[in-house]
Amino acid sequence: MERIRVKGGTPLKGKVAVSGAKNSCLPLLFSSLLAEGEHVFYNVPRLRDVDSACLLLESLGCQTFRENEVLKVRVPSHLKVLAEYDLVRKMRASILCLGPLLARFGEAQVSMPGGCAIGSRPIGLHLDALESMGAQIEIKKGYVCAKGEHLHGEKFLFEKVSVGGTENIMMAATLVEGITILENAAKEPEIVDLAEYLKKMGAKISGAGTSTIVIEGVNKLTPSEHRVIPDRIEAGTLLIAGAITGGEVQVLNCVPEHIRSLLDKLEESGFELFEETQSVSIVSPSEWRPVDITTEPYPGFPTDLQAQFMALMTQAEGTSVITENVFENRFMHVQELVRLGADITPKGRVAVVRGKKGGLVGAPVMATDLRASASLVLAGLVASDETVINRIYHLDRGYEQLENKLSLLGAQVKRESY
Ligand code: UD1
Repeated sequence: MERIRVKGGTPLKGKVAVSGAKNSCLPLLFSSLLAEGEHVFYNVPRLRDVDSACLLLESLGCQTFRENEVLKVRVPSHLKVLAEYDLVRKMRASILCLGPLLARFGEAQVSMPGGCAIGSRPIGLHLDALESMGAQIEIKKGYVCAKGEHLHGEKFLFEKVSVGGTENIMMAATLVEGITILENAAKEPEIVDLAEYLKKMGAKISGAGTSTIVIEGVNKLTPSEHRVIPDRIEAGTLLIAGAITGGEVQVLNCVPEHIRSLLDKLEESGFELFEETQSVSIVSPSEWRPVDITTEPYPGFPTDLQAQFMALMTQAEGTSVITENVFENRFMHVQELVRLGADITPKGRVAVVRGKKGGLVGAPVMATDLRASASLVLAGLVASDETVINRIYHLDRGYEQLENKLSLLGAQVKRESY
C-alpha cells in the first residue's frame, strides 16, 4: 500500500504541464473495438484506469503496446464479446465496450458495473437507448447480455445528461443502419474528442459538443491516429493547488476554454488569471472571497472539481454554499476535511463551508474516491504540520504522478510504501 505525506505551508510557484485527459482516453481506447487494425493514440496519460482499459481490451483479444506517451491498440478481426466482472468492477467506464461490441458483432456480454462510493451510477440510459435501436437486453447473473444483429438508427432523448451514455450510443450508432439522433446529449470536450476520432475512422457525425448529435451509420470503420486532449480536471486541480497555497502557478498544455466555469469562479473569488492559447497563470491575493458553486453538466461547473474547490473555500474569509447536482453522494471528502479542522455542514446535496484562512491542522486522512483524494492533498498543502493521505490508489486512477507535479512547484509532498 502507498500513502502520501504532505507538509503544508509553502506557496506554490512555477510552471507545470498537464497530461492527456483520462476521460477522453478511456472512450477513445474502447472506440478502437469498432475497427480491425492498428489504432495509435498520442498524449496518453500513465494512469491506473488506462491500464485497466488495456487489460480489458486484451481480455477481448486485442494487443496493446505502450511507449512513453504513445499507446497502440491492435484489434483483430474477431474478438471475444465477454467483458468479465473482475476487469469491469475495477473501472465503471468499462461499460463503454458495450456499444462498440454490440454494433460490430451483434452481441455482447458485459458485467454490470457495481455501485461506487459517489452514488449508484446506473446505466439504464445506455440500455434504453440500445433497446430503442433494436437490441434485446437481459440482465443475467450480473451481466448485461445484449443481442442485435440488425440494429437501426433511432431518435433518442436522454432524460438526464449522461457523458458515458452519450459516448456509448454515439460509438454504437457509427456502425448501425440509418440515422441516429441523440437529444439532450452531453456536451463535454471529451465527447467532441471522441467524435473527432470516430470521424477520422470514417464515421459520419455532426453536432458533437451541442445537445443534438446526429450519426449516420456506415458499414465499416478504419483505424487511425489521434492525440488525446489535455486533462481539464487535472488543469483545474493544479490551478486550485496554486490558489489554495496563495501561490503563483502557470499551468501549461491546457485548453482554458475547457475550464471556463472554474476560471470564472476563481476570478469571482479574487484570484488574478492570465490566459494564453494553451496555458493559464494564477496569481493569488492575500485573502480571497467565498463563492457559491453548483455542479452541472458541461459547460457548468464540473462535479470532478467540486471537492477540490471545496478545499479552496475552507480558506476563503466567509461562507460559501456548494451544491452537488450531478451525483447523489459526492461529499465523502467533507468528513475528512472536517478532520483537518474545516467547518463544513453537509445536508443532502448542499454543503455549507464556513471558511477561514489558516486553521487547518494536518492529520491522517483516508481517500475515498478519485477527486476526493485530490481535495485532501490540496488541503494538506495549506494545513499546518503533516497530513498523511492513505489509500491513494484512488488518486493514481486519474492523476499522473500528482505528487511529482506538485513537488515541481515547490510543495513538500512525498509518496511512501507501508
Ligand atoms: C463521467 C466521467 C466522470 C464524471 C461524470 C460527470 C468518465 C470516464 N467519467 O462519468 O469523471 O464525474 O461523467 O461529469 O468520463 N445516470 C443515470 N443513468 C444512466 C447514466 C447516468 O441516471 O444510465 C446518472 C448518474 O447516476 C449521474 C449522472 O447521470 O448522476 C451523470 O452520470 P454520467 O454523465 O453518465 O457519468 P459517467 O459517464 O459515469
